[in-house]
Amino acid sequence: MKPCLICKTPIEPFMSFGKMPIANGFLTPEQYPEEHFFELVTAFCPHCKMVQLTELVDERKMFHENYAFFSSTSVRMAEHFQRFAEGVMKDYLDPADPFVVEIGSNDGIMLQNFARASVRHLGIEPSANVAEVARGKGICTISEFFNEDFARRIVAEHGQADAFLGANVMCHIPYLHSVAAGIRILLKPRGVLMFEDPYLGDIVQKTSFDQIYDEHAFYFSVASVSHLFGEHGLEVIDVQPQNVHGGSMRYVIAHKGARPVSASVALQRAKEETLGLNRPETYDQLRRNIERLRDELMALLRDLKRQGKRVVGYGATSKSTTVTNYCGITPDLVEFISDTTPIKQGKFSPGAHIPVRPYSAFEEHYPDYALLFAWNHAEEIMAKEQKFRDAGGQWINYVPKVQVS
Ligand code: SAH
Ligand code: TYD
Repeated sequence: MKPCLICKTPIEPFMSFGKMPIANGFLTPEQYPEEHFFELVTAFCPHCKMVQLTELVDERKMFHENYAFFSSTSVRMAEHFQRFAEGVMKDYLDPADPFVVEIGSNDGIMLQNFARASVRHLGIEPSANVAEVARGKGICTISEFFNEDFARRIVAEHGQADAFLGANVMCHIPYLHSVAAGIRILLKPRGVLMFEDPYLGDIVQKTSFDQIYDEHAFYFSVASVSHLFGEHGLEVIDVQPQNVHGGSMRYVIAHKGARPVSASVALQRAKEETLGLNRPETYDQLRRNIERLRDELMALLRDLKRQGKRVVGYGATSKSTTVTNYCGITPDLVEFISDTTPIKQGKFSPGAHIPVRPYSAFEEHYPDYALLFAWNHAEEIMAKEQKFRDAGGQWINYVPKVQVS
């Protein structure tokens, strides 16, 4: 048994998804022979309650100068981060000399709001290509991986921060003790850490197993996050559920005793107990739910193929890499995946090697069915795809259950 990445307790895996490629590793046929695979296995720690991967991919294989995920492909996410930034500016900045740090700042989707308001800021974004896009927007960005040593360098050069932000990045970092120690050094006495990630409660309730892939080393709950940061003199002072990425949780964390703790923290922990997030049986049930969902989705896709229907994937998400490889979806079942991100287009999906085509390929010749891999952006997508429906097109959704509509 492997030790828990957080507390070193031996942990028992509850599920293997089999061999998986890098979720964002879109590639050309010439690159197939070197494609990296690892075993995607999830485990629950009975002591600190952290759900995690047991086999990790080297961060430099995932985050580099050809990183395929550009945050600003979703208009709705840009609005979400604008509201997030406005909230930080309203509630948490010291007017004397405010300073905001964000890790995983990507193409600047959040920090652009601070830059526009002339707030002193720093983005820490190791993937050089997306960082360059942010710099082009006038956002101060350093291409490094954040850890404790790096936090010391920031304090020496820029001073301490009022707010330390992270969206969909904290769960990517296996060395969270170093990150937490760095944040403790970096935050002003009344400074706050605010981060959000897909929430374990939503994954369990919706069987959204496609949130599980190489980049997501952890699947957080309030219980596991409280335990981790508690070891570093920090405490969770508020938790705020977010209706993005299929259900996320925003954690607000401060130096212990520096700020009042909202009742939301105990309330959410009680909900987690009711949901069974602290019990191993919950994860055995999750595995059975995932297996059933896979069987239903594959039965549907095979049936549509027998009927001679055209099925196309919508959104070459990282999540779709888990779905296609775990379920065994091949290009004979899904003709291609439509995606608006230029760097993904003309390439093939990781592992399953389904062609990725620009949106025009979808629009110019509508398929009979669109398999909604970007289900977390359903609202935004449905609002602009009425023509597909009018042409008789149907959507296949698989979260929280397999459904054609
Ligand atoms: N915050 C954006 C991007 C999320 S993708 C959003 O929510 O849309 C995760 C990002 O975190 C990637 O751009 C990746 O390069 C970056 N990242 C990964 N490990 C990191 C680390 N140790 N420090 C800082 N950023 C990291
Ligand atoms: P997303 O679900 O945000 O992330 P992840 O890769 O972490 O699973 O990815 C959405 C993908 O879908 C991204 O590659 C852009 C694409 N997309 C479209 O093709 N059309 C759209 O209308 C939207 C909103 C996204």
